[in-house]
Amino acid sequence: MQKLFTALLLLFAVSVSAQDIVITEGWKFKTGDSIIWASKSYNDSGWSPIKIGANWERQGYKGYDGFAWYRLHVVIPSSIKEKSFLKEKLKIDLGKIDDGDEVYLNGSFIGRNGGKNMDIKKGIYNTQREYMLPLSDFRILWDKENVIAVRVYDGNGDGGMYEGKYGISVMDVTDYVSINTNEDNFHFGNNNQVSKKILLQSTSDKYDFNGKLRVTITDPFTNAVVLKQTIGVDFAKDRPFEYTLKAHLPESKSYVANYDFEEDRTKKLITASEGIPYVLTPLPAPSPKINGANIYGVRPNAPFLYRIAATGEKPLTYEAIGLPKGLELDKQTGIITGAIAVKGNYKVKLSAKNKLGTASKNLNIICGDQIALTPALGWNSWNCWGLSVSDEKVRASAKQMYEKLADHGWSYINIDDGWEAPQRAASGEIVPNNKFPDMKGLSDYVHSLGLKLGIYSSPGPLTCGGYLGSYQHEELDAKTYGNWGIDYLKYDWCSYGNIAPAKPSLDDYRKPYIVMREALNKVNRDILFSFCQYGMGDVWKWGAEVGGNSWRTTGDINDSWGSMSEIGFSQDVPAPYAQPGHFNDPDMLVLGKVGWGPSLHNTKLTPDEQYTHISLWSLLSAPLLIGCDMSQLDDFTLGLLTNDEVLAIDQDVLGKSARKVYEKEKIQVWVKELQDGNKAIGIFNLDDKATQTTIRFSDIKLPAQVLLRDLWRQQNVGTFKNSYPAAIPAHGVLLFKTHSVAYR
Ligand code: GLA
Repeated sequence: MQKLFTALLLLFAVSVSAQDIVITEGWKFKTGDSIIWASKSYNDSGWSPIKIGANWERQGYKGYDGFAWYRLHVVIPSSIKEKSFLKEKLKIDLGKIDDGDEVYLNGSFIGRNGGKNMDIKKGIYNTQREYMLPLSDFRILWDKENVIAVRVYDGNGDGGMYEGKYGISVMDVTDYVSINTNEDNFHFGNNNQVSKKILLQSTSDKYDFNGKLRVTITDPFTNAVVLKQTIGVDFAKDRPFEYTLKAHLPESKSYVANYDFEEDRTKKLITASEGIPYVLTPLPAPSPKINGANIYGVRPNAPFLYRIAATGEKPLTYEAIGLPKGLELDKQTGIITGAIAVKGNYKVKLSAKNKLGTASKNLNIICGDQIALTPALGWNSWNCWGLSVSDEKVRASAKQMYEKLADHGWSYINIDDGWEAPQRAASGEIVPNNKFPDMKGLSDYVHSLGLKLGIYSSPGPLTCGGYLGSYQHEELDAKTYGNWGIDYLKYDWCSYGNIAPAKPSLDDYRKPYIVMREALNKVNRDILFSFCQYGMGDVWKWGAEVGGNSWRTTGDINDSWGSMSEIGFSQDVPAPYAQPGHFNDPDMLVLGKVGWGPSLHNTKLTPDEQYTHISLWSLLSAPLLIGCDMSQLDDFTLGLLTNDEVLAIDQDVLGKSARKVYEKEKIQVWVKELQDGNKAIGIFNLDDKATQTTIRFSDIKLPAQVLLRDLWRQQNVGTFKNSYPAAIPAHGVLLFKTHSVAYR
């Protein structure tokens, strides 16, 4: 995928207008490229039907990159212009298109999305396409059949008209209005009190707006209305209307807030809705507790850096009994450094102490050939900052991780694309661009916090964002990373697609990763090697053999339910290949404030979808790479990322991925075997409404009697015989750990 981003202003207002022409059905599709396909009279009856709102890879065109065309025949009734207040422009909404597109109406070109240079090979895949024409435009055939032809180019990964808003409408005054739910987060008070500021705003220079704002909060299980308010509002471009939602909710659970604005002139509705977050994770106790995986892999003589992750009132002091020769603990910071010369399995007893007591935990340090024995827990710059990442942002993220997350075991701070200078040094060495004045200084800073630093490159000449890749400089780049003190390399296929044959063999897929593996092997640092090639050639079957510590199994994720659930719930295929040191990577997390560029928005996932996201990724033993702005972690997001019982599922030393053991209608149950003989169970509701269902233990291979512990709430739910009555919110999850006499 091309990654050139502009600032995206994503407001979650959906205008509901009676005059929209639905264009989600009836599209035809053909791979290849010919300008004749733009023509109105071209006979496309032999073309294949295709769904829009899903990439073409999912619809029988797996692995297809290059040009393809979509065509739709549609009547545009003149009644839509008569009914409109403004009578100015026709708007064709074509959703988001991966990567670039060029649109024709009845054979005539009407617009293109090709990023900065208007090259459709450099399209901006994450942007909603809106093409406008004056109502008098000769290209519109009123009350007759029209043909919309969309020429698409996709460079790599997923492609096509994959999601977003679709329709033909006449632009009206209400198109200038939006309900902005992004300016504030929900604040939580005592007794389930919540509050949040919402803005009604307009972009029109010409019009002021009056109308009614109706706010309702409903219980998705019972549809009971918990709060209902109607407010008279008026606003203009320079004068947004600020509304503060204040509610006292009956319980700490899932509720939905709906905001409906009815505009006086047109009587049209602008609506927005959002799930109200509810925090399940208990706050850490003031007495000490040690978190993190029970195992840690290191190679002989490689620099060792491990920070004991412990919660509890500060100051804490740390102890480590049984450290192997060569390692030393700083008792004040809990950071262990040094190097181990001799291979072996070293059993160390860690402890953390404060005025309330002492906690201990055993850690197995395994000095051998394997690192990353449990999935990486960290942050990556891409899903928030995109190519606008900078040293300053990375440092700020490291500081936030240190202050808020590291005590729960989080450790990697990874720079994604956008750090590279346009040219190598005369010596051939890769150099950072001016957003990263001192890479070594940055890594020293990150290491001083007991955290680790990651970087990004491509085996091709250019990265996906168009920056310099490592092609033909692999050894030198690995050496440079080593000198800078890099601990993690994400290696992204991108333009290597132009180096590899058009139809790569398995060997062609493996080759660039073998080359970099050999280069990294020559560096005396433990650099976690993360493959990013979107699952091509079933990478999970050979990723471990080629020396990958993790490998992406899919195309890029985005913060929609469609994307996250499609990726997450399709991970049963690669699941059997997850093992300590080698994990499937279903892509980075999309919670908190994300944006893929300088401007950020709240994730579009509802709170329940976010619980599903973390629960599923943990069950899958996936790397958990936070993709949001770390300086804006609200209580809810923090709760998602600091639940030690949930993180312990991800970090279980058996390193197995959960399997899908049950699927009926929209219910799926995924079960993960744990090292202690118990199981972690995710019961997911993929439906868009809340549900009540009975899960029979015999259907999910559990013994007749089990004790269930709710991991999010960190509470035992009770002992159940034969079945469990599950009430699950829309797109939500119940995450349990079982304890059964039969397992012990
Ligand atoms: C690809 C990857 C993303 C990100 C971008 C950077 O699309 O899949 O995760 O690294 O490239 O350009």
